Amino acid sequence: MSADPVDFDLASLRPGSPEHKHLLARFFFDTHVEYDPEHIAWPTLTAEEQQRLTRLPFWQEAVSTENITSHTVTAAASLESDPELSRAIALQGFEEQRHARLLAALTAHYRIPIEFPAPYTPHNLQDDFLFAGFGECFDSFFAFGLFALARESGYFPAALVTVFEPVMDEEVRHILFFVNWVKARRLQLPWWQRPVFRARCAWIILKQVASRVKTARSLGGADASAANSENFTLTAHQDIGAPVTLRGLLAKCLEENERRMARYDARLLRPRLVPALARGLYRVLPKRL
Ligand SMILES: [Fe+2]
Ligand SMILES: [Fe+2]
Repeated sequence: MSADPVDFDLASLRPGSPEHKHLLARFFFDTHVEYDPEHIAWPTLTAEEQQRLTRLPFWQEAVSTENITSHTVTAAASLESDPELSRAIALQGFEEQRHARLLAALTAHYRIPIEFPAPYTPHNLQDDFLFAGFGECFDSFFAFGLFALARESGYFPAALVTVFEPVMDEEVRHILFFVNWVKARRLQLPWWQRPVFRARCAWIILKQVASRVKTARSLGGADASAANSENFTLTAHQDIGAPVTLRGLLAKCLEENERRMARYDARLLRPRLVPALARGLYRVLPKRL
């Protein structure tokens, strides 16, 4: 009866099937939101708020990360032979570039000194795309919790926090898209190539985990302030005026991850690894940490 081409049930949605790929692309197009970073009415800050914002240690790293991600994702549209998915990846590239533009607009408006790196050129497109995607799975998960803590602490004006709400939504969509794409990509390979692809992904995830573990171990230690800025989402709770333990942060990230993911089509696969690692860590951490 229904003419909706994405109207099929969960059971029939085999990852990598034409239906799954179509639903994935449609979800991404349908949830895209228009906004223009160059025309944001930035809220006026008090001198103290301006100082807090300027003192945040991650602006330079955020600009560098967006530079790498935006150029990698834009180029990665060419990896995909399915025209709809290729357009969806190109749209994600546009959104990542918009994040870079938003950061440029914010740092210019509030006079935060930043050096803008030369446009990034991917070396190995598939590996770079996988590295960026798995990195986003980690960073976004922690960003969801930190963002909620920043909102609740009132350390920054609500109007400023609100400007970044669409960015958070986009990161949810990006990691949702990514995990579904990775699965579809693997299942379309000839069977003998699948283990190689899986091993490649595992290696890239391990590199991301190792870098996060290094940061997590430095949290609360003598060298906490020198924690690797590359993983700023893991350390940033110290800078957003929210006195929270690592365990409390993990709980907030898990709660926010669930809340944000729940808004999107339940037939799509969810990122599972980072929430599972966070849940495991939450269980073993002593309450005071
Ligand atoms: Fe981004
Ligand atoms: Fe993203």
